[in-house]
Parts: sequence; C-alpha cells; structure tokens
Amino acid sequence: MASKITILLPILTALYLLPTTAVSRDTNAHTDSGPLDCTNRWIYIRQLPSRFNLDLLTSCSNYYPLYDDFCPYIANHGLGQATHNRSKSWFRTDPHMLEVSFHRRILEYPCLTSVPETADAIFIPYYAGIDALRYLYGSDVNSSSEHGLNLFNYMQTNEPEIWGRNLGHDHFLVMARSAWDFSQAADADPPIWGTSFLELPQFYNVTALTLESRAWSWQEQAIPHPTSFHPSTLALLESWVLRVRRSHRSTLMLFAGGGGTSTTPNIRRSIRETCLNDTRISDVTGRFQRLCEIVDCSNGACEHDPIRYMKPMLHATFCLQPPGDTPARRSTFDGILAGCIPVFFEDQSARIQYRWHLPSKEFEEFSVTIPKEDVVYRGLSIVDVLMRIPRGEVRRMRERVMELIPRVIYRKHGSSLGLRARKDAFDVAIEGTLKRIHSRLRER
Ligand SMILES: *[C@@H]1O[C@H](CO)[C@@H](O)[C@H](O)[C@H]1NC(C)=O
Ligand SMILES: *[C@@H]1O[C@H](CO)[C@@H](O)[C@H](O)[C@H]1NC(C)=O
Ligand SMILES: *[C@@H]1O[C@H](CO)[C@@H](O)[C@H](O)[C@H]1NC(C)=O
Ligand SMILES: *[C@@H]1O[C@H](CO)[C@@H](O)[C@H](O)[C@H]1NC(C)=O
Repeated sequence: MASKITILLPILTALYLLPTTAVSRDTNAHTDSGPLDCTNRWIYIRQLPSRFNLDLLTSCSNYYPLYDDFCPYIANHGLGQATHNRSKSWFRTDPHMLEVSFHRRILEYPCLTSVPETADAIFIPYYAGIDALRYLYGSDVNSSSEHGLNLFNYMQTNEPEIWGRNLGHDHFLVMARSAWDFSQAADADPPIWGTSFLELPQFYNVTALTLESRAWSWQEQAIPHPTSFHPSTLALLESWVLRVRRSHRSTLMLFAGGGGTSTTPNIRRSIRETCLNDTRISDVTGRFQRLCEIVDCSNGACEHDPIRYMKPMLHATFCLQPPGDTPARRSTFDGILAGCIPVFFEDQSARIQYRWHLPSKEFEEFSVTIPKEDVVYRGLSIVDVLMRIPRGEVRRMRERVMELIPRVIYRKHGSSLGLRARKDAFDVAIEGTLKRIHSRLRER
C-alpha cells in the first residue's frame, strides 16, 4: 500500500499542476525552427471529472491475480519505472498505459486552445482501457455492454454544445488495447469477451486510437504499441541509432514470443520447429553464426523486461512477427527499434493496421512478407526465403527500418526542443487524427 501511494501521488499532483489548457490561440509556442503554424491543428482537451481518468489509476491492484497489478507501470506518467537506476531512456513500459502517457504528452502539444469552438479536434482524456478492466476482470462483467454510456451522458449534459457542434465527428480518444476488446456485440447475452464501447451508436462518430484495429474498421486507427525506449534528447536518440547501425548481426532470424507448442498446424508452431531444427544446421555461406534464435517470452516473461529481447534483436537480421492471440504484436515495434527487419506472415499483422506509421506503399522496402499458408501447408522454408535475399538488399532494408525508428517511438514528455523537431509516434498519430477529422467534416 505504501509503495502504491508513493508511486501514485507524484503523478497525480504533477498532472493536476499542469495547466490543462496551456496555450491560448494567440500565444503561439515557438520552436527553434521558427514560429509554429497552428492552422488546422488546434486541439481542445475536454474537461472531464477525474473519475474518467486519474481516479481510475487508484484501482491499479484491484484485479490481481486475474489481471496484473499495474501500479508500478503508472510511474513516469505511464512510461513505467526506469529499467535501472542510471537508465535515462529505458523504462519498464506497459503498452496499456499509453492512455496515461498520451494524456501527458498532449498537455505539451503546442497548438492547444482553450476555446472549443475554434478547435479542429477535441481530445477526450478518458482512460478507456483502464476503465474497461472492471468489465473485463471485475464485478461489472455483466454490464460490459454499457461501457462508455457514463462518459457519453456526461458529455451530453455538460457543455453539450461541444459535442453538438459536429456531433462527435471531431472528437478522439486513446484506447490502449486491441479494438477487439471493445467490440462485443451490444446484445451479447451472456457476455462473451470485451466491452461494447465501439459497438455503441453513441460513439460511431468518434475516432479511437487503439493498439490494434479490426479488419474492417472505420472508427479506430491502430497506432504503435509503445516500446520501452523513451529518449528525451536528440543526442540520446542518435546515439541509440548509431548503436543499432553498428551492431553486428550474427543471427539470421529471431522470434521473441511464446506459444507454438500446440499440435495443430499453425505458423508459430512452424517457426518453433524450424528454429529448433535449424539452429543445429550450420550456415554454409558463413554469413551467420546461427540461423535462428527463439527468445522465450511465454507467460509474460518479457513484458516489462526489455533487456531480455532487445539485446538478441540487436544481433538479428530479421525478426519474425507471426500473429499471436491478435494479428499484430508489440514486438514488431521493438524489432524496428533494434534495426531488425520485420518478417510478417499476413497483411493484417501490420500493413493494413499501421498505415499512418508504417507507410504501406513502401512496405516492401523495410519488411518481408511470407504468406503463412505457404509455410504451414506447402512446406516453404522461411530460412530459404530469407537467405535468398541479397546482402545489398538486406542493407538497404535495414537502412529503411532505421529511418522508421523516430516515427515508432514515443519520446519522453518534456523532451528537448531538438528532439521535438523530429516527429515521433505521438506526433504522427495527432497528424493522422487531424487529417482524418478534417476529411470527415468535409464529407458531412
Ligand atoms: C537504485 O537506487 C535505489 C534508491 O536510490 C537504491 O536503493 C538501490 O540500491 C539502487 N540500485 C542499484 C542497483 O544501484
Ligand atoms: C453475471 O451473470 C451470471 C449469470 O447470470 C452470474 O452467474 C454471475 O455471478 C454474474 N457475475 C457477476 C460478477 O455479477
Ligand atoms: C453521428 O453522426 C451522424 C451523421 O453524421 C448523426 O446523424 C448522428 O446523430 C451522430 N451521432 C451522435 C451520437 O451524435
Ligand atoms: C524438424 O525436424 C523434424 C525431425 O527431424 C522433422 O520431422 C520436421 O519436419 C522438421 N520441421 C521443419 C519445419 O523443418
């Protein structure tokens, strides 16, 4: 209990002390690249009672053991605790805390307005995924189809004109889980899995930023799972990229994950078999010391321990990213951060989902796709496919992967101006959201 309070108190006070509508329209923030143009970029943060966000953090140990005690991961505004005492950029980040860290980041967004009528977009600072825990793992499981109604009613009864101006088409929020967790049919009886937030007509017009989207979605857009790397200066980012560039890639391919032990044919099982078989075979070309490495992440072993997988990823040329319980995986972004070329086995794993952050037109330039059916049912060898890619091509792909690093990481709040001039995952998400909202409003 004591430790929980020591972690929470500084966060809560820090958030409260920050002005929530920091900048008004006529006090443009300046960066070193000159005055900032906020045209079409104004964001208003809706004022919500703390029961919709900060208060929810106090329930961080309520769902244990059904759900991990997430109190430690709230530290540093949702980035988690530093991996070790002297670590500046590495944290034990839990991706579900993105709602907290995104909230913190938007407070320093340079084009905030305190006048909702002049805003291009309205941010709802609701911790949707954290609130969902009481429906997923808590006592409200039988009312999971009502998730979101309190919020909607609040927005209809308090300053309803903010919603009314564009009927919610200009509103957006972060839901730091897979969209599947919020897509239970509203009439599911008994409840199956998930809440019905994204199925409620009340929220059809709102843009939700999720960690994964459904195959045919128009409400949500997937944004990168946060990695554990959150630099605060350009120098810290650049020295990491330099380390990635210089890293000796002695392993052909790596899989960091769990599963693959079932007896029914599936891609994870094929990968597991290949790796267990092929590590015994030496590479005749002499390019690699080993062909395959598995980092065993079963039972959440890797979740808050980035050293476990980042080091091996730095030494691998390709990182295998098969679908898991859901089509995408966090490890895709960890791998990119390590300069490890992603290998996908279906388009839903990344190409379709992360269009804003991983440009789909250039997808082949930084990744390899091997259809999983060819591997599982037609005996195509992953090793053969990857070994056939010429060295020069591999080098070019890795360069492209390294160019993606700044876009897929979430930098630390309060970063230096130099680093702020580089677009990170947050900036790209905001840019995409604004574009999407503008096109929605034009259509109306
Ligand atoms: C980290 O810092 C804490 C508190 O300052 C200290 O108790 C702990 O021993 C340090 N750990 C290491 C590994 O230095
Ligand atoms: C939910 O409903 C089922 C069936 O009516 C019941 O058995 C269960 O106890 C309820 N769960 C809770 C947490 O109320
Ligand atoms: C969503 O937008 C449509 C038309 O654009 C409108 O008819 C509907 O009432 C809106 N929904 C809500 C809950 O405001
Ligand atoms: C792995 O080795 C076993 C036994 O030698 C063999 O039956 C199996 O087909 C191999 N699997 C792969 C994917 O190479």
